[in-house]
Amino acid sequence: MSNMYWLLAAVFILGAERAGSETQGFCDFDASSRVNCGNERTSYDTCKSNGCCYDSSKMGYIWCFQPWSVKALHFRNTEVLAAMECNLYRICNYNNPSARANCGMEGINEQKCTKENDCCYDEKTSGVPSCFPKDLIAEKPTCNPNNRVNCAYPNVTLEACLRLKCCFDNSTLGKPYCYNTEKKNVTVTCNVATSEKVNCGMDGISKDTCRNKDCCYYETPTGPWCYKMKITG
Ligand SMILES: *[C@@H]1O[C@H](CO)[C@@H](O)[C@H](O)[C@H]1NC(C)=O
Ligand SMILES: *[C@@H]1O[C@H](CO)[C@@H](O)[C@H](O)[C@H]1NC(C)=O
Ligand SMILES: *[C@@H]1O[C@H](CO)[C@@H](O)[C@H](O)[C@H]1NC(C)=O
Repeated sequence: MSNMYWLLAAVFILGAERAGSETQGFCDFDASSRVNCGNERTSYDTCKSNGCCYDSSKMGYIWCFQPWSVKALHFRNTEVLAAMECNLYRICNYNNPSARANCGMEGINEQKCTKENDCCYDEKTSGVPSCFPKDLIAEKPTCNPNNRVNCAYPNVTLEACLRLKCCFDNSTLGKPYCYNTEKKNVTVTCNVATSEKVNCGMDGISKDTCRNKDCCYYETPTGPWCYKMKITG
């Protein structure tokens, strides 16, 4: 956050030139949680070609920042690496059987499925895998500009506000400008319906290569075996 003043100035100088805002998926999280992925002079093109997120629309925040990295959803004992503080839950979602990826061999029993593979088991629906991977829910802090509740003492500075992990936005006069974060759940899943699967590699890509790209690898009867995780919320 030591670059804050430089950034503030730079936003005014460069903001008009390239008010690029790409805050989808892995890049879409609370701006005060951003971790630098370049330096003050990193251009849009360099930033993107380094695989980083770029968003210069939020005044006072880092604009070339590390993506929120969701890794290895499917590996046991590995958790999401998040460039922010968030609570993580792994849950079994029984609601959408037709989207299930297969987490074990045909005929796998409940014990092996849940204990050894750390997956979910449900044999109520025929014709779909009864052993399928858990979804992951990340409860992350967000800045909701409505419902603002003061988060700090009056006249708090920008730096002090961010140090307290509050949200800062002083563009609306008469509203609290250093305000509480709210929580939002984001779901990351490999249980993706065939029609929604997005290919994440060449045909024949290996399991390891696929998963190293943070994609899902499941040998399903239809659709690509290596496909992108679905992120909602
Ligand atoms: C906050 O700052 C303004 C302007 O500097 C000052 O008039 C006001 O008294 C300050 N408020 C508090 C609670 O310190
Ligand atoms: C908003 O905060 C920034 C950083 O502290 C400051 O430079 C700017 O003058 C403030 N703007 C308003 C309208 O108070
Ligand atoms: C997020 O999901 C978890 C697990 O289902 C739940 O315990 C938590 O209350 C949810 N948080 C919010 C903000 O909805």
